[in-house]
Amino acid sequence: MKNFTRIILLTGLLVFLGLSAHAAGNSGSLPKQDWSFKGLFGTFDRTELRRGLQVYREVCAACHGLRLLRFEKLEGLGFTKEDIKVIASNYEVEGDLNSEGEPTTRPAEPKDHFVSPYPNETAARAANNGAYPPDQTLIVKARSGGADYIHALLTGYQDPPSGLNLSQGMYYNTVFSGNQIAMAPPLSEGLVEYPDGTPATVHQMAHDVTTFLAWASDPEAEERRQMGIMVLLYVLIFACIMYVLNRRLWKTVKG
Ligand code: HEC
Repeated sequence: MKNFTRIILLTGLLVFLGLSAHAAGNSGSLPKQDWSFKGLFGTFDRTELRRGLQVYREVCAACHGLRLLRFEKLEGLGFTKEDIKVIASNYEVEGDLNSEGEPTTRPAEPKDHFVSPYPNETAARAANNGAYPPDQTLIVKARSGGADYIHALLTGYQDPPSGLNLSQGMYYNTVFSGNQIAMAPPLSEGLVEYPDGTPATVHQMAHDVTTFLAWASDPEAEERRQMGIMVLLYVLIFACIMYVLNRRLWKTVKG
């Protein structure tokens, strides 16, 4: 009987430790932002996500692709199938060959992926002073510090300290490694107009687009986490029931 109690307590402890380690994340010395999706019970704020999609489409998409994300996934942001058809149809993708065997293009459909701005890396570098604007689908996962890093990067542009000579076409950024980045500051006050009237400050746009990119890096993460919590709850409740049953059973035997 005592062993059984111990096992239950131990399981509970392990589950708790595992969950807190998962929720803690890691972002070193970067300023920590208040993300809606952080923590064990965090969920992506749908309004932020939609504003972030707007910033991505109107600003970042000029240079950065999002090539692993299908339009249909935008249902997770609360868009209807009709909305998604309209969004997708604004993009052109490769179609079938025509009767003369020549390549054609067609408007994108919900099952297609977001369209990258450049056909290949060479073209991307040629247009960006030799630097490569990385695809953004996995960027939040790929950088240590994750969302906090992306936010700090977007808001980290400053005049270079006196005495520092920036190389041609480079900008001073406090968090980018080496402090010189080939991306011009992409955000400026009032750059987009949010339909919900939220003031488009640099901080707000950085916050929204980072939230969107964090979602885009794993659109099913939220659902999976909720499922995980349900499974754990189930296991805990089941363990409690077994404990009570076990006691009762042995009581009659001993009694
Ligand atoms: C005019 C083109 C352009 C636009 C617009 C642009 N970027 Fe960039 N971005 C670049 C280039 C070029 C690089 C590569 C910089 C380098 O390696 O020095 C880059 C790099 C990055 C990186 C990677 C930094 C790292 O740690 O390696 C992130 C993150 C990023 N951009 C986010 C964004 C976001 C978010 C937006 C929209 C708000 C945006 N960019 C808009 C050109 C652009």
